[in-house]
Amino acid sequence: MSKVGIFAGVVAVAVAAATGYTIAKQQSSFSGSSVGAGNTPSAEATLSGMNAKATGNTGAALLAAASSAGKVIMVKPGSLIQDAVNQAKAGDTIQVLPGTYSETVYIDKDNISLIGVIKEGVWPVLDGLGKLNDAVLYSGNGIRIENLKIVKYKGNAIMGQAGNNFVIRHNWIVDTGVYGIFPQLGQNGLIEYNVLSGIEDAAIYVGMSDNVHVAHNEVFASVAGIEIENSRHAIVENNMVYDNAGGILTFITPGLPIKSTFDVIIRNNFIVGNNHKNFGAVGSIVSGVPSGTGVLVMAADDVVIENNIIRDNKNAGIIVTDHKNASNISPDPESDPNPDRVSILRNNFSNNGYEPIPEVKALMVASLTRQGPDVVAVGAGTGSCMLDRAAHATLGIGSWSNTCAKNTTADIATLLLDKPAPPRSTETADKGKVLYNGICAGCHAYNARMIGPPTQIIQAMYAGNAQGIAEYIAKPVKKRDDFPPMPTQAHLNPEMRRAVADYMLSVKK
Ligand code: HEC
Repeated sequence: MSKVGIFAGVVAVAVAAATGYTIAKQQSSFSGSSVGAGNTPSAEATLSGMNAKATGNTGAALLAAASSAGKVIMVKPGSLIQDAVNQAKAGDTIQVLPGTYSETVYIDKDNISLIGVIKEGVWPVLDGLGKLNDAVLYSGNGIRIENLKIVKYKGNAIMGQAGNNFVIRHNWIVDTGVYGIFPQLGQNGLIEYNVLSGIEDAAIYVGMSDNVHVAHNEVFASVAGIEIENSRHAIVENNMVYDNAGGILTFITPGLPIKSTFDVIIRNNFIVGNNHKNFGAVGSIVSGVPSGTGVLVMAADDVVIENNIIRDNKNAGIIVTDHKNASNISPDPESDPNPDRVSILRNNFSNNGYEPIPEVKALMVASLTRQGPDVVAVGAGTGSCMLDRAAHATLGIGSWSNTCAKNTTADIATLLLDKPAPPRSTETADKGKVLYNGICAGCHAYNARMIGPPTQIIQAMYAGNAQGIAEYIAKPVKKRDDFPPMPTQAHLNPEMRRAVADYMLSVKK
């Protein structure tokens, strides 16, 4: 989608908090036992505290499932990780020894753990050499990816394509192009203890997913730090998010197959100094997020922002906006464009809004304040509230309530599922749809520009010619000067390519 000039565009978030700050308490359990390390030799490579206990057993079931019995396949430098994946059966663990690997690993089976072995500080490195598109793509369920250093890819470090019950933890991701960790169309997943930097769009991008827990990550020097988009039931907690253009974003992108974002808890994060120059690709949604934005809520509902430290974000601490105030967002008749029931509970705000964009400045002038905002809301939306608001600099929240239905989310430990989510439909009739939603919709929205051209335009070009699409995606050639190249989908077999092509031509919204 194209530029959102925020405020005219996307805007912001909020938070602040003051008391009841719980990060220290949660971190103190880092030295707990090792539920997650499992029964494989990788235990030696797994930091002793990096286990399910660290998040208060959040994700324990996922971790236990992912480290179930199976054989261990070792990968040494000079061989291909993909060969090990090809040999592996459900339940197996692939261990990658320190060394450098330059390949794209595609995991299309279930219950595989891909775990790096870190020896005396030396990591296994997946190096895209600035040429390869993706480091790891998975479409299987029950996939666990851990202990990998991933550098210099052009597209994604780790992308999930409709895989459920995933665990992505303790990876170190530097300069991998558009997205760092990107589960798309996944249900029930844990993303924790990763360090990411230098990502051109969102470092951690949860897209069209449900029941996701994003915790204890460090995310910096990227355009967007953590993004929860067209997703539901997500907790983003205990992360360190700094020096991005925008820190934590939750919104609805119009024109995607899944139309809503709601039930998102953003708590106990450090959201500090997100003033990086916005180096997002021209035309991408995040390129419209003003540098200096701590949190941005756009059109998402039932978002709770609690116990964060939000400081030194030069534009605003939190921006809450509807779609209409986001420039260049074409509304989607099936998405509610307004952010409803946003709760800003206690947060610790300081020194935000000291150099706001002109649109925020204009609001300040209109409300006769010289204080840049901790929280600013623009556009429509109902049922929102903010606690302690007299203590903070706010703009545009006159209609918000001073009291919230709930003063804390402390009673909610996790929104992960108790039991593994069932796999997505594998009915032949649904294959094209799952592939389209799980892969293509990461870059193609129906009527808006994302990374690739809108599906509507492709439909006009390829009317009646699904086979043409199927062939193009196996070996895409560069066509447009103002778009990046499209990555090959050659890992899909001809039947899958045809199914997704047929579906792409039939999509109506
Ligand atoms: C990582 C982003 C990305 C993903 C994922 C992606 N595309 Fe694309 N796609 C692009 C970009 C960028 C272009 C424009 C390339 C150009 O013009 O050089 C494009 C162009 C196309 C075109 C137009 C070709 C033409 O002749 O102009 C088709 C068809 C297409 N994609 C189909 C698909 C299908 C089907 C999928 C899913 C299997 C898919 N794409 C997944 C980014 C992506």
